Amino acid sequence: MNILQINSSARREASHSTRLATRIVERLRDADAEATLTVRDLNRAPHPVLDESALGALFTPASQRTPDQAARVALDDALIDEIQAADVVVLGVPMYNFGVPAPLKNWIDAISRAGVTFRYTEKGPEGLLKGKKVYVALTRGGNYRNTPADTQVPYLKTVFTFLGLTDVHFVYAEGLSLGATAEQTAIASAYEQIEEAVAA
Ligand SMILES: Cc1cc2nc3c(=O)[nH]c(=O)nc-3n(C[C@H](O)[C@H](O)[C@H](O)COP(=O)(O)O)c2cc1C
Repeated sequence: MNILQINSSARREASHSTRLATRIVERLRDADAEATLTVRDLNRAPHPVLDESALGALFTPASQRTPDQAARVALDDALIDEIQAADVVVLGVPMYNFGVPAPLKNWIDAISRAGVTFRYTEKGPEGLLKGKKVYVALTRGGNYRNTPADTQVPYLKTVFTFLGLTDVHFVYAEGLSLGATAEQTAIASAYEQIEEAVAA
């Protein structure tokens, strides 16, 4: 089993979402000692935004790209290779201003490529990243689960389903800014959710 861990918090050691993602990875490795792990920290190695020059590079046929364009596409190719090689993807995702962290959006823009990770057919779009499990550790200062303010879960479900990633488990740690007791309760609950998710 190949595990790909994606960390998206701006914080390092203090990050709850990274710690919870790491916990999920540990529990998966407890069940499979042979599992390999690739960790991509999207803040330590920032991926460039999808700007006009990136779009120009992506939409230029490979044989006609300039060296700069080829280099830009190669950055996205590396992320696509990583997720294609993974059997399990584990993401740590803080809520930032009611959305996902910008580096995670850049990662999603990089791995979403027509003809490679999805394609359009006569029956509609088809995701090509099939047969993988996804675990997402969500951390929030407040409590937004199952409310309209939670744009993260509907967004991630939509984009993952579009890419063929349909086996997705969400683990929530909410209320982390509401005092020490609320924080401890949230982390304990997240640990329980992790046990349920990895057993499912
Ligand atoms: C820039 C910033 C924006 C945030 N926006 C929200 C928010 O919109 N809603 C919320 O519940 N918490 C928000 N928080 C709190 C974080 O989600 C919370 O601290 C979480 O633990 C951060 O994840 P981490 O521990 O992995 O770094 C925000 C924190 C920061 C630093």
